[in-house]
Formats: sequence, C-alpha cells, structure tokens
Amino acid sequence: MFARRIAVIGSGYVGLTTGACLASLGHRVVCADIDAAKIARLRRGEVDILEPGLPELVVENQVAGRLEFVVGAREAISRPDGQPVEVVFLCVPTPMGEGGAADLRAVQAVAAEIRHLLPSGCVVVNKSTVPVGTADATLRLLNRRDVAVVSNPEFLREGTAVHDFLHPDRIVVGCDAQDAAERVAALYSKLGAPTVLTDAASAEMVKYAANCFLAMKLSYVNALAELCDLLGADVGDVTEGMGYDKRIGQSFLKPGPGWGGSCLPKDTNALVQVAAAAGRELPLVSASIATNERQRALMVDKIRDAVGGDLAGRRIGLLGLTFKAGTDDLRDSPALGVAALLVAEGAELSGYDPGCPAAVPGVTDDVRVVDEPMLAAKDAAALVVLTEWPEFRSLDWSAIGGVMDNRTVVDTRNLLDPDILRRAGISWVGVGRR
Ligand code: UGA
Repeated sequence: MFARRIAVIGSGYVGLTTGACLASLGHRVVCADIDAAKIARLRRGEVDILEPGLPELVVENQVAGRLEFVVGAREAISRPDGQPVEVVFLCVPTPMGEGGAADLRAVQAVAAEIRHLLPSGCVVVNKSTVPVGTADATLRLLNRRDVAVVSNPEFLREGTAVHDFLHPDRIVVGCDAQDAAERVAALYSKLGAPTVLTDAASAEMVKYAANCFLAMKLSYVNALAELCDLLGADVGDVTEGMGYDKRIGQSFLKPGPGWGGSCLPKDTNALVQVAAAAGRELPLVSASIATNERQRALMVDKIRDAVGGDLAGRRIGLLGLTFKAGTDDLRDSPALGVAALLVAEGAELSGYDPGCPAAVPGVTDDVRVVDEPMLAAKDAAALVVLTEWPEFRSLDWSAIGGVMDNRTVVDTRNLLDPDILRRAGISWVGVGRR
C-alpha cells in the first residue's frame, strides 16, 4: 500500500510545503500548527507566504480530502476516525540560538507533547535542520521503544519549494533502524529520485554539509569577482569557463551582495559551533562567513565611489529588499544589510521590492519603502540593484534616468543589460564585470 497517514507538526514554510506535496503524491496528511489564526486561513486556502504553486496545491488537496489543517500536535495525532497515524513529520523552527548554535526548544517541546500520543510502530521524522545527534536525543526524549526517529533533511529553496519537492536531486533518509528508514523513503517512491539510506547522524550531517558547501561556493565567487574588478577580468566569463567543468557545474556561481536568507547564515554558524564543541576549527566555513560580511561592505564602497566619495545626506534608491528574488522573505537579507551600512554613513534610502510592497516595522526601518521603482529612483544620486528580480531588466530605463539626480546604477547582481542602460544615458557599475 502506497498511501500513508501522515501528520506534519509545524505548518511554516517547510511543513506546509511538505504536507501539501506529500498529499499531492496521494498520502493522507494532517498539518498542525499552534497558530490558530494561520490554521483558519489555511482551511480557507489562504497561504501567507509567497511560494509559487503552493496555494493551488493546498486548495486542490483539501478539496480532494487528502489534506487537513488542525490546531496543535495533539489534534493531528489523535484522529477522530481512530485510524492511527503512521508517520509524524517534525517541521518546527530551529532558529540560530546563543553563539550561533541551533535552538532546539521547539523540537523538544513537540517531542514532550506527543510522546504519549504516538501509536505503536509509528515513525517520527525530523525534517528541520538540526545538529548531528538530534535524532538520538529526540528518541531519548520520546522514551518509546516501539517508535523510531528518522532524519530526512529537506533541500527546498524558497521561491521554488514546490518544484524542488516534486523534482528532488536526491532524497536522504537516516535511521539506525533500517526498516523505519525504508518506510520513510517509500513515501517518496513516486518521485523516482536517487535515495541515500544511511544512519541518522550522517543524514543530519548531509544538510549542513550541503548548505555550507553552497555558502563556500558563493563566498569564493564573490571573492573572485572582487579580484576580477581589480585585475580587469570579467567574472561572468570566468564562472562560465569554470562551470563547464562537470566537477564544478554552472549553478550557484553568481556574485552578489552576499548570501543571506533563513538557512545559509544559520547553518554555516551552526556548523562552526558544532565543530567548536567537538574541539575543532572549521576555517573554510569561518572564512566564508567573514568573506560574506565583507561583501556587504564592498558593495557600499562601490556605491560611495559611484556618488563621488561621500554618502552623507545623499539620496540612494534601492531595487530589491528581499534576500533573493521570487520570495517575500526579508530574513537576513543582504539587501537590508547593505541598507544598514548606507544609513550608518548618512545616506537616505528609498526602496522598492515586488515581493515587499509595504514597510515591515522593525525590519525595513532603514528604508522608506515605496510601491513603484520610479519612486525609488526619484532624485537619487544612485540607484542600487540588490535583489535579482527579473522584472527589473525590463523597466523603462530612459524614464528612470529622467527622474534621477545622477544617472548611475550600481548593479550588485549583474542583472541588467549595461548596453540598455548606456543607451538610456545611465552609467552602470557591476560586480567583477569588465
Ligand atoms: C538554501 C539551499 O539552497 C536549499 O537547498 C536549502 O534547502 C535551504 O537553504 C534550507 O536550508 O532550507 P534558500 O535559503 O531558499 O535555500 O536560498 P538559496 O537559493 O540557496 O540562496 C541563498 C542566498 O544566496 C540568497 O541570498 C541568494 O541571493 C544568494 N545566491 C544564490 C547568490 O548570491 N548567487 C547565486 O548564484 C545563488
């Protein structure tokens, strides 16, 4: 029998995507959250994160009777129809805690709440990014001999989460009990992805290993871009030339204002902490974090140069506030990091972002958030592209140049076509570009 009865605890970005996608594969899924208002909205088909395809999946699968939303873990596990839940996914937040280590209080709280409710033979799956050893610790917390804990890290990217779930590069499942790992792997069998079955510690490690590798790759590219600027080489040609080597690959080689979001910064810091706790340094990862912090300052150097050497009292327009295109997520956004440095030097900022049309108090306070690119450009001494929204390419650049005080664009994502800007009488400054 393929279809399983699944409970997903935590209906945030990972939990909701996991629940809706597992339902679309034919499983019976109940998603729980402690936020009753969010559950009420989800029951009405309202998804409060920007994730293409997710609202449609939520509605379709509720209508088909494969997806339900309930308040609280207890409700998700103790089903009124008496049919036992077979697999419980833990998808609760593991934010950066004291000193960069992962804060596991939400995982611990759910484990304590559900330990007496789990049916015998049930498998608990940890989907959140958690330090190596958490599956074992969760098993000890549950203190149930008849229940297995499996690590099954997620590799979804925000903005393409549904696509990534349904077309994964791989599925990783780790458990010291082989049959439990196989049962979890079987949930995804329809996807036909390569599957790595391993022990729990190795599966937990894969997630950190992958995210830290991606962060190192980006810091390396950003450092190369800086060198290209100094040596007159073109980073686009350099990365293309590197990327044809199959061992390197073309993806994740675009320089920018630094990497951000809710995952790479948190996971790089956590792995450095984990290594320190094991008595080791991790200089490659630590240097990638330091390079990333420096990258924001380097972007400010470019902007300062573009306006003549002093930012005090200058109006700067920003295009993009989110941590990457295709999302409304502002967490650890490099764009906001650059904005904070600009404000510290006395610049006055107006910013436009298609995913963030209005100010978010406490988060975007450095920027006057406007709802049109023209308003960000008005009277600006420079306009700075900070997020790679494709629509910025096709803006009316002649009109934008017309409202600027000084026709200069600093493109920290190398997103725009410099020829189009030149024809509009705008000077263009990129990152590592000839
Ligand atoms: C990242 C990983 O890519 C996912 O595989 C992983 O599942 C996820 O973290 C997670 O741990 O949950 P995500 O945080 O959505 O996904 O963001 P990415 O697409 O990895 O982008 C991270 C940052 O790198 C962004 O600021 C982005 O703009 C930047 N970036 C990415 C570049 O500057 N250049 C690139 O070529 C690619």
